[in-house]
Amino acid sequence: MPETSSPRAIAYSDVQLQFLLSPLPELAFVGGIRSGKTWAGCSWILMMLQRYPGCTGLVCANTYPQLRDSTLPTMLSVLDKWGWKYRYHRTDKELSVYGRRILFRSLDAYDTIRGQEHGYALIDEASYSSLDALQVVRGRLSSPNGPCRLRITTTARGRGWLYDQFVTELQEHPELRARRGLISGVTTQQNRFLSQAYLDLVASGYSGDYARQELGGEFVAFSGRVFPFAEDAHLVPVSFDPALPYWHSVDFGRRRPAWLVIQPYAEGDVVVDAYLREDVLTEEMGAEMKRRYPDPVFITCDPAGDASNSHTYDSDVKTLKKIFQKPVKYTHDPRLRAIESSVAMVASRVAQGKIAVSKDLAKRRPGEYVSVWGALTGYAYPEGSPSDSRPAKDGLTDHVCDALRYYITNKYYSRTAVDVL
Ligand SMILES: Nc1ncnc2c1ncn2[C@@H]1O[C@H](COP(=O)(O)OP(=O)(O)O)[C@@H](O)[C@H]1O
Ligand SMILES: [Mg+2]
Repeated sequence: MPETSSPRAIAYSDVQLQFLLSPLPELAFVGGIRSGKTWAGCSWILMMLQRYPGCTGLVCANTYPQLRDSTLPTMLSVLDKWGWKYRYHRTDKELSVYGRRILFRSLDAYDTIRGQEHGYALIDEASYSSLDALQVVRGRLSSPNGPCRLRITTTARGRGWLYDQFVTELQEHPELRARRGLISGVTTQQNRFLSQAYLDLVASGYSGDYARQELGGEFVAFSGRVFPFAEDAHLVPVSFDPALPYWHSVDFGRRRPAWLVIQPYAEGDVVVDAYLREDVLTEEMGAEMKRRYPDPVFITCDPAGDASNSHTYDSDVKTLKKIFQKPVKYTHDPRLRAIESSVAMVASRVAQGKIAVSKDLAKRRPGEYVSVWGALTGYAYPEGSPSDSRPAKDGLTDHVCDALRYYITNKYYSRTAVDVL
């Protein structure tokens, strides 16, 4: 590698430098999305590679797609920026830089790294892996020629195991601070390499606790209600208007399916009607809704379910297609399917007043297992479980909330929603 170089346009933010220069054996960088975490982590790996030629390095991420689509491309960009030569061996998932080797491994199968010996390691998006995976990586840093150092770069995910490791344990055992450190609260806005257009875009998509986590880089204890619905702002004297178009959104379910009818107004969408009966088949529910509201613009639904029930799921979609002869939309985009991020998209629209509920749906009507309003305002994070950043599934409120979520994500956020007609 080049021993010296002429002055170059390489720059790091103050927190990135603090991260790069720390001599601690273990250090976690917890920041907002695109705050410069992976860039810093990859730069650190290259610093180690330069300083410790007699050992290999390990770069891990929670999943293989995360490694392939985010961590590795960032590593290659840093290498290009530094002007270093490298070869990447796709089949071995191994990077070779001036004869030194860096292995790329996914932690969803962390057993594959048992038995290896490395000098230093980076775990990208660690909060989406597990404590077990972290322990396995720690155990691999046994190379006698290496510094035995570990770096973590990640957004937080509630106050889970990562919080325990880098906050609680350090409070309880101050002597650990000589070994383990944390840089947190690094905001997305702090990354001056991002455009204002990008910052404006993300600012509009997040709100509340989730924004503090995803943009503020904080460990947030999620608690209380998920959606900021308020009676005076979101319960409106509006009923179904036959002159306006309407959409259907469905959460399939054997026991408690949920079906919402939604209409657009200048101020935002209004949920004008619902079908919320227990123990009905999709055929029965579909036929009833076809009789009442036969001509929706399109139907949104559950993103293709897990492999275990994809068969029934398939037939549910087919059933609706057959009954309505209308497009049925659902997305495969993981960010839109993940409960945490998609719930935040709904919450953000609620906060902006872009979704309201008809007063007709404020109370449970005969035959309904829940009222639409009761479900939307009762949806909450699990109590006394700060590590959970996902709302509680109580089997009662979650179905209506899921149906609303499918509508919002498929209609407003998905460019790739699958159209089935
Ligand atoms: N020190 C830096 N020098 C140049 N570009 C940077 C630097 N830090 C971050 N960036 C840019 O910001 C983008 C987002 O940073 P990244 O580390 O991928 O974010 P995160 O991992 O926090 O989501 C990178 O793709 C890169 O273009
Ligand atoms: Mg990253």
